[in-house]
Amino acid sequence: MFSTKIRCLVVVGAQWGDEGKGKVVDALAEHADLVVRYQGGANAGHTVDAPGGEFVLHQIPSGILQPTSRCVIGNGVVLDPETLFHEIDALVARGVTLEGRLVVSDRAHLVLPYHKLLDSESPRSKKIGTTARGIGPAYEDKFGRRGVRVGDLRHPRIVGKLVQNGAQRANDMLQLQGSKQRCQASDIVALLEALAPRLLPFVDDAGLVVARTLRGGGTVLLEGAQGALLDVDHGTYPFVTSSSTTAGGAATGAGIGPTAIHAVLGIVKAYTTRVGNGPLPTEAGQAEAARLRELGDEFGATTGRPRRCGWFDAMVVRYSVRVNGLTGLAVTKLDVLDSFEELPVCTHYTLGGDRLDELPDNVAELEEVEPVYERMAGWRRPTGAARKLVDLPRQARDYLDRLQELALAPIRYVGVGTRREQLIEVAP
Ligand code: IMP
Ligand code: MG
Repeated sequence: MFSTKIRCLVVVGAQWGDEGKGKVVDALAEHADLVVRYQGGANAGHTVDAPGGEFVLHQIPSGILQPTSRCVIGNGVVLDPETLFHEIDALVARGVTLEGRLVVSDRAHLVLPYHKLLDSESPRSKKIGTTARGIGPAYEDKFGRRGVRVGDLRHPRIVGKLVQNGAQRANDMLQLQGSKQRCQASDIVALLEALAPRLLPFVDDAGLVVARTLRGGGTVLLEGAQGALLDVDHGTYPFVTSSSTTAGGAATGAGIGPTAIHAVLGIVKAYTTRVGNGPLPTEAGQAEAARLRELGDEFGATTGRPRRCGWFDAMVVRYSVRVNGLTGLAVTKLDVLDSFEELPVCTHYTLGGDRLDELPDNVAELEEVEPVYERMAGWRRPTGAARKLVDLPRQARDYLDRLQELALAPIRYVGVGTRREQLIEVAP
């Protein structure tokens, strides 16, 4: 993907998340000097099958497993410092060196214990099916202009005041919600005092680090979390996450201008999954969903919840190509479909008998749409050993051809398994 013309690349999820971004980023990071997470937080779960074994990363960019790349947690992320150190400790225990390789933005907001408490106690969060990691409440505080930022940890007096007010607010909200749980400001201040000396050495002006890398001729990969249909603006609102998951968010969340970005790669699963509530037009019937779930090991990497499974939805991916400005696609988990006799592909929807070629703006209509399927022949042969496109059965290539034709973007990578070498590069 990287070339003399493409030195700054965004990788985004083009469906509802869990498309296999971690694996693609891990592979591409070999050629990236810097890998930057730009939004979301510990709600994400990026599973990477690296030579040292399987890793699940939540906040640290998946590039950390390539020894030559440096990693950045950008200003657009909401950072849970406790979880961060669990992640760091797990990486160190597995022999990954972090010295000089991790930068945390001074402008990133902190996820505090009361954010997690509010998320897990809120009936609204339950209705949406959030990960209960405090993401929504932390972004609420950010946009309510009362959040605590990483850089504030340098000033204990400021932190003390902000936490005092935040805890008070949280306790009021908990009471309103009928919860008996309460938080203690002094406990949180003590926690931050203990974590600050460990966190501050990583802290820097992350946007400047990215800009300097680009100015110096280096390569930068901006790693998105979740997917376009979970974007707070473009997703299936209100069944979305609280950040800008799409490529536009990469510029703001990494602290660079949009003109610095050269290409955007969208990751799509060869079928569709969603974890949490909200519309999923191409959701399969129980038996077929269970078969996809088992073959694809479709269980949430953060919460362990079974993912809802269904067929490839070209409406969704075409929309994603548009709202992200995707310049290419990576189709992952093709091998999961190896045993199917027939593969439905949704080309468009109907609503009340009328044809729809663009996604409706509201969930009420999305719940009502009828997907219209084209049935493609399956290949019924294992594909995991394919290393070039020509190694794939003809039906699999036909399937991919149809996907890119419907999605209106070219396929640049095809994933046929979890290992690094199971990612086929497609010549442009
Ligand atoms: P939140 O991000 O925890 O607030 O959850 C909001 C919605 O986004 C819920 O439907 C979650 O299941 C979903 N979600 C959040 N993070 C991920 C992810 O990394 N993969 C897939 N779904 C996610
Ligand atoms: Mg995931």
